[in-house]
Amino acid sequence: MSPNRWIELTEKNPDHSSWYVERFRSMAAAGEDLDGEARFVDAMVARGSRVPDAGCGPGRVGDHLAQVGHEVVGVDIDPVLIAAAELDHPGPTWLVADLAELDLVSMGIEERFDVVVCSGNVMTFLDPETRQSVLARLSAHLRDGGRIVTGFGAGRDYAFVEFFEDVAAVGLTAELLLSSWDLRPFTDDSDFLVAVLSPGASAA
Ligand SMILES: C[S@@+](CC[C@H](N)C(=O)[O-])C[C@H]1O[C@@H](n2cnc3c(N)ncnc32)[C@H](O)[C@@H]1O
Repeated sequence: MSPNRWIELTEKNPDHSSWYVERFRSMAAAGEDLDGEARFVDAMVARGSRVPDAGCGPGRVGDHLAQVGHEVVGVDIDPVLIAAAELDHPGPTWLVADLAELDLVSMGIEERFDVVVCSGNVMTFLDPETRQSVLARLSAHLRDGGRIVTGFGAGRDYAFVEFFEDVAAVGLTAELLLSSWDLRPFTDDSDFLVAVLSPGASAA
């Protein structure tokens, strides 16, 4: 079994990816609000910004960002999800790639990015050995002043304190911590973390 928890799920259950795609299609068809993360990201940058959706899944976040005028590149390790993104959300560039080795320049995408979004617990699905590499690879794709925003829940074998250690180890600074995509403050008791990260050490 793969140490990547998403790949492990798909190896155990070959229908897992299709189930996930249909789950989001049903929620969208039911009119559920699936755009909270995208609204957050849209508020961080000027319209027309360059935004990779890291671990994009079937593309709900990148799609909304593209709809409001950003240039979106969605990347995911799961080809079934990328196929669904291409079908359901034409417009952005959707690519199959492992975030731990992400090198968009080698895939023909030279220009760097304003904000990387990595939502939906992606960080907790990674092979733990690659968490720092993923953070470093995302950081390497930022232009000057660029930021990363990621969100994941507690109880998923990636303690927030470990995440903060990994962030520091790759030279990133957590410049804003929240407990939700609708801007609730992060406290010691929070069961969800939204972190805005920027390259460079903290001034404190
Ligand atoms: C719960 S889904 C979230 C999808 C999407 N971000 C969202 O919020 O709707 C987690 C995603 O992380 C992706 N993922 C996990 N490990 C990855 C890796 N090493 N590289 C790229 N994608 C990865 C999975 O394929 C899956 O699409």
